[in-house]
Amino acid sequence: MFTLIKKLLARQAPAKQTRNPEVNPVKILHIDSSILGPYSVSRALSADIVKRQVAAHPNATITYRDLASEPTLHLSAAHIAVFQGGAPADATLGADLATGGSLIDELIAADIVVIGAPMYNFSVPSQLKAWIDRVCVAGRTFQYGANGPEGLLPAGKKAFIASSRGGVYTGDSPAAVLEHHETYLRGVLAFMGLTDVTVIRAEGLNLGEEVKAAAVAKANAEVAAL
Ligand SMILES: Cc1cc2nc3c(=O)[nH]c(=O)nc-3n(C[C@H](O)[C@H](O)[C@H](O)COP(=O)(O)O)c2cc1C
Repeated sequence: MFTLIKKLLARQAPAKQTRNPEVNPVKILHIDSSILGPYSVSRALSADIVKRQVAAHPNATITYRDLASEPTLHLSAAHIAVFQGGAPADATLGADLATGGSLIDELIAADIVVIGAPMYNFSVPSQLKAWIDRVCVAGRTFQYGANGPEGLLPAGKKAFIASSRGGVYTGDSPAAVLEHHETYLRGVLAFMGLTDVTVIRAEGLNLGEEVKAAAVAKANAEVAAL
């Protein structure tokens, strides 16, 4: 009997590890990409999401990237030449390559990723796309295996997207077919292995003050409920 009980106990799922925030604080990666500075809705929402996460995770550390004020370079032939073993053509490229490496390291290290993402021309701002081009890297954040693509980001991450857009793309909106914004972000995050994604959305922001105020109030309430 004693042996049986020992065997049953051994079969139980391992106890869930509790995280000591003093020894191992939650790491938040906060990214903004709106070019509208203090007038930006996505920036205000992403900041509030981060505040909520900090409140929920004592001692959380925050890495902030403002892709509008400090954009990375777009990938170019000069980058590819270095990836293939060449030396950086100049100091600007060298610095940008170093930043590119940090962007990947930050994403891999983050427990929580908060992305302020306005819709520009039915998709994400080019600055955010440039960041994606730098972090979506074979061998670091994804790989192709026998069963197709596989995300390499460590499991357990959460992402929050603060989505803002002038029109309406949800429900039976005729513009839904032009929605390459949230679907794209969700898709590329999932491709890298990050599937726990919450979207906080304010849409219809260019449809008049009343519609805008209601959309922002709804998004704020969703943030408050996180
Ligand atoms: C360059 C640019 C392109 C835009 N393209 C679209 C678009 O394709 N569809 C849309 O619904 N709104 C579009 N908008 C409106 C923005 O999505 C909207 O103003 C949103 O509030 C911007 O986010 P932000 O307040 O965080 O800057 C565009 C705005 C800018 C500045």
